[in-house]
Amino acid sequence: HLPVLSDLFGRFHNYLRISVTERCNLRCQYCMPSEGIDLTPNERLLTTPEIIRLARIFVMQGVDKIRLTGGEPTVRKDIIELISGLNELRPLGLKKIAITTNGIALRRKLPLLRKAGLDGLNISLDTRDPRKFELFTRRKGAEHVLRAISEAGALGFDFVKVNVVVMRNMNEDEVPAFVEMTHDENIDVRFIEYMPFDGNQWGEQKLVPYRELLNNLVRLYGDRIERLPLEDNHTAKGYRIKGYKGQFGFITSMTKSFCSDCNRVRVLADGNLKVCLFGNTEVGLRDLLRDGSSDAEVVETIGKAVKRKKKAHAGIDILSQLPNRPMIKIGG
Ligand code: GTP
Ligand code: 5AD
Ligand code: SF4
Repeated sequence: HLPVLSDLFGRFHNYLRISVTERCNLRCQYCMPSEGIDLTPNERLLTTPEIIRLARIFVMQGVDKIRLTGGEPTVRKDIIELISGLNELRPLGLKKIAITTNGIALRRKLPLLRKAGLDGLNISLDTRDPRKFELFTRRKGAEHVLRAISEAGALGFDFVKVNVVVMRNMNEDEVPAFVEMTHDENIDVRFIEYMPFDGNQWGEQKLVPYRELLNNLVRLYGDRIERLPLEDNHTAKGYRIKGYKGQFGFITSMTKSFCSDCNRVRVLADGNLKVCLFGNTEVGLRDLLRDGSSDAEVVETIGKAVKRKKKAHAGIDILSQLPNRPMIKIGG
């Protein structure tokens, strides 16, 4: 008998990503379709007690890391209470609580997030140039994000990562400047290959393969670049410039996928369990939470869904044709 969170390919899923809202205060072109999205009506979104109950169920089955995503998780009004609630699951085995945020409204929340039990943050910033920031996000605010990044560093979070989605003719020229941010700041900057989701007008010509970026950096830094050991269940291949405080890496979902040691499952804001970022293999959990089903019944549904997870995603040529959701409704 396989454990509930084990799939048929030997992967154990100890990392739960929970999308806590479909709303966002930015409109990033690679995430939010230009025509917008139909928001799920409020009564079909998980409430905070429902999220905590599900989180507890997952932790009892072996999840030890939870990341909150969105939309933009900080626009959820009770985000601090939610994190405090998760923090109470530590005695059951939860070790890490993290959040992925665009950093826009982060600064004033940072101390409270820390106090509530948040271990670390991944902050999205694709460009340091305010004019280009508007192209990427259809909104203003680069300077808020840059300040949130340095203040997060000062607050003593265990980790602060910066996510840079690299798009052709948009920001690949800024890669060295992002690497230079790691000179004085203990941050982990990850360059992410652009991935296809519904409505984001992905095209291979907009993708910059990580190899190209790495080769350029090798030309610039020579043997001052060192490769870091791969972490367990990594999404990123890590590097460091010798003597720099921080590190950088590449999330190579498109040109060198890392599905074989995937340990992630997702609960979406509407309560669907999504076992892979790509494709549309989803199972609804919300109605079970509301119809009086026992924890054991929820667990059984989760176990069946995980067993349906495929060995790997379908590959660069097919992914953009597969039905999925817009990224804003998945949360990464
Ligand atoms: P860590 O917990 O710090 O490892 O974070 P992460 O890299 O898993 O998550 P984050 O939310 O920072 O996402 C960074 C990028 O990785 C985004 O582009 C995500 O869509 C992508 N990503 C996250 N999880 C997966 C995954 O399971 N598969 C793939 N292909 N990409 C993923
Ligand atoms: N391709 C790659 N990464 C993406 N993200 C959002 N949309 C895409 C995409 N199409 C990133 C965000 C955020 C993380 C959750 O996913 O920048 O950092
Ligand atoms: Fe896991 Fe799917 Fe991402 Fe592959 S594409 S790493 S299987 S979530």
